Amino acid sequence: MIEIETAGGVQVLRLNRPAKKNALTGEMYTALSEALERGNDDPDIRAHLLCGVPGAFTAGNDIADFLQYAMGDGGMADAPVVRFLRALARCETPLVAAVDGLAIGVGTTLLFHCDMVYASPRALFKTPFLDLGLVPEAGASLLAPQRMGHARAFELLCLGEGFDPVRAKAAGLVNHIVAEETIELEALQCAKAIAAKPAEAMALSRRLLIGDRTVLHARMEEEIELFAQRLRSEEAKTAFTAFMAKSQARD
Ligand code: COA
Repeated sequence: MIEIETAGGVQVLRLNRPAKKNALTGEMYTALSEALERGNDDPDIRAHLLCGVPGAFTAGNDIADFLQYAMGDGGMADAPVVRFLRALARCETPLVAAVDGLAIGVGTTLLFHCDMVYASPRALFKTPFLDLGLVPEAGASLLAPQRMGHARAFELLCLGEGFDPVRAKAAGLVNHIVAEETIELEALQCAKAIAAKPAEAMALSRRLLIGDRTVLHARMEEEIELFAQRLRSEEAKTAFTAFMAKSQARD
């Protein structure tokens, strides 16, 4: 469900679970985490490209997994999603994303950690955390207001408004809007161009641009703790159960 290929210094990470709109499972988070962590240690990996399938970058965390967690009594500290979020915030290799279609939940918030984001005209950025009884994750509660200002961050993260690519670009989340037929090619060319730059200078410059990550890491841990509590709230359980019932009704 995560396909990994390396070419020209670029590690391409493809989310590939089209039947579920690329909803992310624990297994997928683990594969992504390992790939990102590998990039920190392997000098031959000079950029990552994250992409999905036509029409779906990702529909976010698998809600069946959320429900399982909500009904269980285990902690979240070792959850694969938590490892992934930490790997993302500790990634030392430039990240490029090609978003063709749905980018829901973590599909949008992970983009705050990307250096270059390409979007197709049919891309949709949406974080329905609040409607699911949850709170934002991946450091988005800090990074979104910094990037786009409180007003737009509130619309995105608290009202759960969908941003089309034009609005997402105006908000500073997207670099380029590119036709779905060529988006991956252009994003790959960008990743290869990054990979071809002097590696040490790139790493140092990127680190300078990101700056001190202490506050980000602390905020992420705060979000993770609240998120884990909220997953077990009645508001969340009701929302997950309603979503799963819709899917079962279609069977
Ligand atoms: N978790 C689990 N399954 C999901 C999913 C998710 N996040 N997103 C989509 N799916 C499944 C659907 O249940 C459906 O499965 P089924 O065919 O077995 O019934 C399949 O993927 C296709 O989704 P469907 O809802 O029919 O597609 P759509 O194009 O009408 O709508 C979405 C797509 C993404 C708008 C809609 O599926 C949705 O709202 N998903 C939930 C997104 C979400 O809240 N994510 C968590 C964010 S924190």
